[in-house]
Amino acid sequence: MGSLSCRHIYKYYKGEQRPAVKDFNLEVSEGEFLVLVGPSGCGKSTMLRMIAGLEPISEGDLYIGERYVNYVSPKNRDISMVFQNYALYPNLSVYENIALGLKLRKVAKHEVELKVNRTAKILEISHLLDRLPSQLSGGQKQRVALGRAIVREPQVFLMDEPLSNLDAKLRAQTRAEIMKLHSQLKTTTVYVTHDQTEAMTMGTRIVVMKDGEVQQVAPPQIMYDHPRNLFVAGFIGSPQMNFIPGAVTRREDSYCFETKRILWELPQRYVPSLKSAASNLRQVVLGIRPEHIGADVETRNKYPCGITAGKIEMIELMGSDTFLFVNIGESTVIVRTEAGSSHAIGDQTEIAFRLDRIHLFDAEQGGSLTSQGVTGL
Ligand SMILES: Nc1ncnc2c1ncn2[C@@H]1O[C@H](COP(=O)(O)OP(=O)(O)O)[C@@H](O)[C@H]1O
Ligand SMILES: [Mg+2]
Repeated sequence: MGSLSCRHIYKYYKGEQRPAVKDFNLEVSEGEFLVLVGPSGCGKSTMLRMIAGLEPISEGDLYIGERYVNYVSPKNRDISMVFQNYALYPNLSVYENIALGLKLRKVAKHEVELKVNRTAKILEISHLLDRLPSQLSGGQKQRVALGRAIVREPQVFLMDEPLSNLDAKLRAQTRAEIMKLHSQLKTTTVYVTHDQTEAMTMGTRIVVMKDGEVQQVAPPQIMYDHPRNLFVAGFIGSPQMNFIPGAVTRREDSYCFETKRILWELPQRYVPSLKSAASNLRQVVLGIRPEHIGADVETRNKYPCGITAGKIEMIELMGSDTFLFVNIGESTVIVRTEAGSSHAIGDQTEIAFRLDRIHLFDAEQGGSLTSQGVTGL
């Protein structure tokens, strides 16, 4: 059983007032590829190291499969860990590096040979087995580190930013390789990264953390479409979600979003959640993704939209898309348009916000007023 169960886990480092990890509560099912993501210092490595047994758990219970492992030493937890800095032994060959864990476990020589060769084949590093780590590129080193983790056939893989030392191209390539590997081996994996793109593309589920606390747990698309709070909304997605501070006001049976320059009546479907959020006038932040704002007539004709005037300040050509940076008075919003659109810097234009795709967040607490009741939150 390769499942993992974290029950109300806390980590207090000596001499620190605030916990580095607070009430981390999560069930990871067998075969899952779970990604822990969040900004630097939010407690990701601490959490992973507690799962690995490299760091004592201050409070809470940890199970791997059915087994309670709080006090089990790292080498007896049946996990393998892959680090950012590869941690290869410089004076051992690639073969020896991969074989070491098995040898320490007194696995028979012919079996070690069989397993190392099979692993090398999966990772396409068979031709490198005689080399020393110093004779490898960064990407090759990381593949050897993966090999060392795989060869032991553990119940759980733990990976802490394994791609951070690679350049962008190699990172994308190795990311794809890790996913391919996971689809072959189906080993339960907890993968740590600060990079939301990695989280979105790799995770079967994502856990977003901030200041030691879990913000949301959800599959990537649900996280993207229904962020629970302002932090998650701003963290997941690139370019970032646009935010416009304003107020929600009530007009008889409908609600409006209002700023100095904007007055939009909100679609009826938001009424129940806004009603339950009570109070007549409420400071909010409206969030909308760049792909849900249009600078063309088509958007307006197809969807319920709020319209406002703006001026194009900057244009970013991405090849497949074009991003317009449009100043709408109190703020500048990013609009994603198709490549080859005919806009120019300095143009005055009307832009259309799809009101069916907006998010409203409580300005003070940051909680979403519009994604309540969505499953997976
Ligand atoms: N050994 C340690 N002693 C004291 N504080 C630590 C130690 N390791 C990490 N921390 C603190 O715990 C918090 C979480 O760190 P870490 O888990 O490394 O974050 P992340 O991996 O998300 O960047 C940070 O504030 C960090 O400074
Ligand atoms: Mg870390």
